[in-house]
Amino acid sequence: MDFFNYKNNELHCESVPASRIAAEVGTPVYVYSKATLLHHYRQVANAFKPLNPTICYSIKSCSNLHVCKLLIDAGCGMDVTSGGELFRALKAGCDPKKIIYAGVGKTDDEIRMAIDAGIAAFNIESEAEIENIDRIAGEMGKTAIGALRINPDVDPGHKTHAKTTTGKKENKFGVDIERAERVFEQYKTLKNLRIGGLHLHIGSPIYDIAPYVEAITKANALIDRLTKKGHKIEWLDMGGGFAVNYKHPMQALPVTEHAKALVPLLQGKPYKVALEPGRYIVGNAGIVLTRVLYRKQGGEKKFVIVDAGMNDLIRPTLYDAYHFIWPVKPADAKNVPAARDEDLVPADGETVDIVGPICESGDYLAKGRALPQTKRGDLLAVFTAGAYGFAMSSNYNNRPRAAEVLVDGDKFTVIRRRETYEDLVAPELI
Ligand code: LLP
Repeated sequence: MDFFNYKNNELHCESVPASRIAAEVGTPVYVYSKATLLHHYRQVANAFKPLNPTICYSIKSCSNLHVCKLLIDAGCGMDVTSGGELFRALKAGCDPKKIIYAGVGKTDDEIRMAIDAGIAAFNIESEAEIENIDRIAGEMGKTAIGALRINPDVDPGHKTHAKTTTGKKENKFGVDIERAERVFEQYKTLKNLRIGGLHLHIGSPIYDIAPYVEAITKANALIDRLTKKGHKIEWLDMGGGFAVNYKHPMQALPVTEHAKALVPLLQGKPYKVALEPGRYIVGNAGIVLTRVLYRKQGGEKKFVIVDAGMNDLIRPTLYDAYHFIWPVKPADAKNVPAARDEDLVPADGETVDIVGPICESGDYLAKGRALPQTKRGDLLAVFTAGAYGFAMSSNYNNRPRAAEVLVDGDKFTVIRRRETYEDLVAPELI
């Protein structure tokens, strides 16, 4: 569910016409809906309420300070994966005791920074990292806290792209589940690192419940075995990955369905639970507005050239990701979409490639897409772009990054100004 709707033949974000934002802020622009963001956070929090979990928003999905602050104010902790993300989480006002830090390649400086900040826990990915964190904490005269990330060897299902599957043996993440007991044995008497939890994250996005059930069942069994051997496991962090609707309204399960299956597996256990959702909270809370610059024909193909490129939204070319794209003001009222559905056939439509201005053939937002007729100057909305959209944008082709706007009811605020040409060269020295 989200608050991007067509009213009077025109796309609105909450009560603000999308065209007003484009006119005032320019394009391309990321537009987020505050109500959608908070709705999804609360949905996760309510669904898992019986477990009283710690919900750590995965900041990598959309790390704008304003977005982070809204979620922190609503009660969220943060899942970070670099020194930069930790810096942002702290800057946004997150209580360090609600910050967890994952990632296979934490540097010594990043580890020091996190210990210094007093984060809740490291999610630790290897034996070498255990030894390194223990050493660094020792040098600092502090005790670090960690959870061991296990790789449960679970197939997340065919709908998860190979590049975003994490919980299979051939992936670089975590410690093989069979090795986990040995690791706990080997490192039970570390002086400066207490490994008190277990972490897993099986991939992103996950459309099915079964992989979660399998992974958590395996984790529960492992915790039982560890407990019998005298290890005290205080929490299980089940990662993120809940999918959202990209292609049609029923594509992804609401989180309540996941919770129905998962809460009974964890209720009454003597350990606490943490979650790390990113996409579910912010995915459908953001769109990109882009303007049609030109149209052209190439062989049999029709191209609609827009002012947002792969530097603004890399998901289509990197993961073959589908994003629903539609005119903000369809010229023909019959083309006001009843639902955002990949099978929607526009009245008086055409099949086009929607491409950006970047000098690469891979620079497209959609290929072979049925779209109502568009002309130069028309505005298009690229939906479900809130997660891993702006966060993965770049300055490639020396394009200043887009502005970010947050809508709240009938008001909107620029929460990141559009970059300038001066911003592009600011860090460089001649
Ligand atoms: N926890 C860990 C350890 C993760 O690695 C991730 C995502 C999450 C939580 C959050 O997953 P989410 O709830 O957002 O699905 N760029 C890709 C997605 C990469 C996900 C990386 N890790 C995309 O655009 O689809």
